[in-house]
Amino acid sequence: MNSRNIRNVGAQPAPVEKIAVTAASPYPEVNITMKNPQLLIPLSLDLASAGGELTAIYQYVYQSIMIKESHPLISETLMRIAIVEMHHLNLMGQMMKGLGGSPRAVSNFAGRSTPWNGTMPSYTKDIKRMLQVDLKGEQDTYHRYLLQSHRISDPNISAVIHRIAEDEEVHIAIFEKFIAEL
Ligand SMILES: [Fe+2]
Repeated sequence: MNSRNIRNVGAQPAPVEKIAVTAASPYPEVNITMKNPQLLIPLSLDLASAGGELTAIYQYVYQSIMIKESHPLISETLMRIAIVEMHHLNLMGQMMKGLGGSPRAVSNFAGRSTPWNGTMPSYTKDIKRMLQVDLKGEQDTYHRYLLQSHRISDPNISAVIHRIAEDEEVHIAIFEKFIAEL
């Protein structure tokens, strides 16, 4: 072993910068002061509809597993985005509880209850299609959250949903970048 090799023993590879999967600003505390069961309806859709947080979590974990070997960077990023969506689900659930409800994985719309189910995520195995489905989902979610944050009269709920929308905006940019680089 020459001196150069000795110097390299124990050398660490340069740290790889991870892609940021959240917006920079802190999340507002959930602090619901008025019980308003009407607001449980949009929140149940955010949590448990086909386009809700639970679907996003499952879809991203599934995709991350499927592309772990072929696209390790995208796989690792998808898993970290799934964890952010889990935090969103946690916030939605806390708000539902504060409003006097409970965070069941069942969405309510037009008087009908629809349990979340395993057919809601996309199970495509095509990487390009995966990212396109993810991008469309994030865009739809982002716009729904912006609309809700403007329409919902409770300022705390509006602030929390608006902050969640900021994360979805970050996810849109990530998926657009991945699609462009494929
Ligand atoms: Fe997202």
